[in-house]
This record gives sequence, C-alpha cells and structure tokens, in this order.
Amino acid sequence: MAGLLKLGYLPKLSPGRYLAAIRAFRSPVEARGKDTLQVLYGSKVPVSTLCEPGADLRVLGIGSGSGDVDIIMLKKLLQRHSSVYNRVVEPSGEMLARYKALVREDTSLGAVKFDWRQQTAEEYFQTKEDTKFHLVHAVHALFDVEEHDATLRKMWEQLSDGGYMFVAMQSDKGDCPRLRSKLWEEFGQGDRLKTSLRTSGDVKQYLDTAGISYVASEDEISVNVTECFRDDSETGKLVLEFLTQTPNVSSEPEIKSMALEYIRSNSSLVDGKIYFKAINEVILALKDCAKE
Ligand SMILES: C[S@@+](CC[C@H](N)C(=O)[O-])C[C@H]1O[C@@H](n2cnc3c(N)ncnc32)[C@H](O)[C@@H]1O
Repeated sequence: MAGLLKLGYLPKLSPGRYLAAIRAFRSPVEARGKDTLQVLYGSKVPVSTLCEPGADLRVLGIGSGSGDVDIIMLKKLLQRHSSVYNRVVEPSGEMLARYKALVREDTSLGAVKFDWRQQTAEEYFQTKEDTKFHLVHAVHALFDVEEHDATLRKMWEQLSDGGYMFVAMQSDKGDCPRLRSKLWEEFGQGDRLKTSLRTSGDVKQYLDTAGISYVASEDEISVNVTECFRDDSETGKLVLEFLTQTPNVSSEPEIKSMALEYIRSNSSLVDGKIYFKAINEVILALKDCAKE
C-alpha cells in the first residue's frame, strides 16, 4: 500500500504492532491503577440491568482484549447479580490468553461463567445464535471492526428488551481525534469510516439516524507523549503510530512532521513532559422494545 494510503490502517495492516501501540499509549494511564478504570468504566455500568428472576445476567463483550476493563465491569455487575454468563468475542489469541490468566488469578469471579470465542465480530455475527443479552459492550473496539455501522446494528439486535448497549470511544473533542482529523483533511483518501479514524461522534451519528436514544458521559485523561519526540525511542514510535493510526509512521515523513508539529502546538508542557488531552466517552443506550 502506498505511503499516504496507510493513514488510518494500523489495525488492519499491522495488528500485532497495533496491539503493542495501544499498550504503549495506555500503559501510563493504566499505571495510575485500577481506580482509573473504575472511574472510566466501572462507575458507568448500568447495574440495574433487568434480568429474569433466577436467570444468569448475560453479557456479550466485543473486542474484549486482555480483559482488564471487562473484569472491572463484571465486578460491578456482581454487586447486584448473583450469577453472570459472559461471552467474550476477541480475535487475538494473545489477548485471550492474558484475559484467561487474569480470570484464573481472581477468585472473586467464581460466579461468572466465561464463554470464550476467538473470533472477529464479523465472524461471530455470522454464526446463528438465538441468545439475547442484557448487556452488550464494545470498549474501544469499534476502531477495529470491518463495518462500523453494521457492527452497531448487530450489537443492538443481540440485546434483550430492557438490555443496555455500552460503547466507549475517544471523543471528537480530545486531542487525538483532532490530530487525526487534521491528518485526514490533508492526506485522507476514500471513506474515513473504512479506516480506524473513528470517534464517539460516529457512534452518536449512527444512533441518531437509527432513532436510538442514549446518554453519554466524558472523562478527560492526560497522556504523556514526550517519547514521540525522541527519534531513538521505540515507545515513542509506537505512541506516534497509535496517535496517527499509521503503521511505520517514521517512514512517512509528511504524516510524521505534521503530527509532531500538531502535537507540539496543541499539548501542555508540565515539568519538562509533553501531555496530550484524551477524552474518553461512554455511550449508553437502553433497548425499549415498546418504543421501537
Ligand atoms: C483497543 S483494543 C480494546 C480492548 C479492550 N476492550 C479494552 O478496552 O481494554 C481493541 C480490541 O479489538 C480486537 N479486535 C480487532 N479486530 C476486531 C474485530 N474485527 N472484531 C472484534 N474485535 C476486534 C483487538 O484484538 C483488540 O483486542
């Protein structure tokens, strides 16, 4: 693929590097501890989710990754529900192995039955399944799926009446999507929704068009991006690939210089470190069949 056409194709062209880039971008945030994940996700889980008496609460996770966020969500649900059936759809064997290791180590998850599906969302939605879920979530996974709108539609179809869809994405108001939007304006080709340059705004647009009401909440997070300015830093390269969603961005001088220039003039300098502002947005939609 020619240079500029790689913009927004990091997950598709280089999935292994993409997972490493996510880790490089997120690890300073996750190092702040489980409380951060609790605030960003746990506190937003709808515990009042309706479930038939005596039945398991059924949860479907799309693109669950290594399970850190799922586990925070499951623990919140276990405060109200005595048993949970959790189906995990995740294509990466490496991510699933990490998730399973976390589950093995955590005795508080004994009341959760895990059903592991090593599949993409597209493969999963092709299987004939009648199970309906009380909670269907995709946490920062809609960047990766093939068809953004079709995935949301299929997630919605998986919900039982009174169930919730929970989607987390980066908000358009944050610095990363603004940088990506600038790069796309300059170098983008084709349909942006075919790339990973997607935001919470795209999710809301889909829901508005489909006539689905929702509530949204945002949290601001500062991310240290200082390493991007060190040419010899492997972490810096990965973070820049994450920010631009472009594989091997160091060999794309036009994208790299515009990105670094944008970061330099839109970041804050604190104690010699450069911080970019990310805004995490959680969108929650309740399925009320009487209104549909
Ligand atoms: C940014 S990570 C988010 C992981 C996790 N939900 C979290 O927030 O920690 C995106 C995940 O989506 C997975 N993924 C990639 N392509 C996918 C697809 N087509 N369908 C479902 N998941 C996919 C990746 O393997 C990765 O684990």
